[in-house]
Amino acid sequence: MTVPVVDASLAPRRVLFEPVHLRGMTARNRVAISPMQQYSASEGGLANDWHLVHLGRFALGGAGIVFVESTAVEPRGRNTHGDIGLWDDAQVAPLRRVADLLRSQGAVPAIQLGHTGRKGALQTWWHGHGPLNDVDAARGEGPWPVVGPSALPVDTGWPVPSALTEDEIRALVAAWAAAARRAAAAGFDMLEIHGAHGYLIHQFLSPESNQRTDGYGGSAANRQRFALEVARAVRAAWPAERPLAWRISLADLDDGTLPMEAMVGFVGALRDAGVDVLDCSSAAGISSYPANGARVPRGLDFRADDAAEIRRRTGIAIMAVGFILDAHAAQDLVARGAADLIALGREALFNPNWAVHAEQQLQNDPSHALWPRAYRAWLAKRAPLADPVRAAAAARASAPREN
Ligand SMILES: Cc1cc2nc3c(=O)[nH]c(=O)nc-3n(C[C@H](O)[C@H](O)[C@H](O)COP(=O)(O)O)c2cc1C
Repeated sequence: MTVPVVDASLAPRRVLFEPVHLRGMTARNRVAISPMQQYSASEGGLANDWHLVHLGRFALGGAGIVFVESTAVEPRGRNTHGDIGLWDDAQVAPLRRVADLLRSQGAVPAIQLGHTGRKGALQTWWHGHGPLNDVDAARGEGPWPVVGPSALPVDTGWPVPSALTEDEIRALVAAWAAAARRAAAAGFDMLEIHGAHGYLIHQFLSPESNQRTDGYGGSAANRQRFALEVARAVRAAWPAERPLAWRISLADLDDGTLPMEAMVGFVGALRDAGVDVLDCSSAAGISSYPANGARVPRGLDFRADDAAEIRRRTGIAIMAVGFILDAHAAQDLVARGAADLIALGREALFNPNWAVHAEQQLQNDPSHALWPRAYRAWLAKRAPLADPVRAAAAARASAPREN
């Protein structure tokens, strides 16, 4: 594996747009689109035209890596009725369309696999995003039984999960591996395991949600056992030349789940299991949201100093995420060794062309060479016409008004 190392001799303005090599994968730059659920699957958890167009925009917009949203490894592990899945072979073909489209437009097709555990069976955001209820059932979207490490709900009024038996845990680890094989068959070149945000793997890690008394609960090592079994099983099922990422909640540094020494030990074990990239989210999510928001300091949400320390001590590559808005901020995180990849969530929804715009902001691409070739000549003609019009409008807006 080649862990991307920032080359200090690179001109600082280029560092975000250097190609990245991980195992056998090369991405054209370090800008990744973060996994973002769309709650828009067709019947049977199938991806459809929405996913194709939504994700295709980011590839046209110049991102190096585009992640498909959290994709359920079994139906019980869905967040909502609109989640896509990879628990069935029938789900491979529509995702292959997505992977093929992303690759054809120059982006690395990537996908996140997830299981929501006790945080499943929720409404879509446009129906409130609380636990499914009778009103939802009347619409044909009733709840389903959810599972977790212990029979402890997220909060009062939330579904009480059934505690997974050891046989069920073994079956679930196999389901993760089977979904990884389907992701490979669909043509994805990078895979991420969702180990954060209060979902099943995170529920096992946290002493708040995991109060088991068997080999999967109690000590920190026991609580990490399910995570490491999933990591090893997925790595064995996922082609050796394709990189594997893991999403972690760095908020765990604060709440006793994984203080820094334990975090470094756990990440080292993930690395030894074959994880190449640590995707460092700052969201917590063990308790209900939005209440958990109050527990996490917000702002530029990426914990750069913590990530830099984990990167230095474990040698794992870091993907930064969390309110990274600006090309210069992104570039700075890479240049100072806090991150190898920069992931964008909401900012990419707001501006799917973020990457090509960032190249212009950093003055790397005056001739629009990074834009789709069908646009280039026209955009080159546009700039000298549009810039003076914009400048005149700005001057008018700032001029003192005459009464
Ligand atoms: C619409 C939406 C859906 C999301 N779905 C997922 C998901 O499927 N998996 C995940 O790990 N995070 C998910 N997230 C979190 C994002 O990946 C990202 O970590 C978060 O939004 C912070 O980055 P940002 O400040 O750039 O938006 C989602 C965020 C948004 C806005």
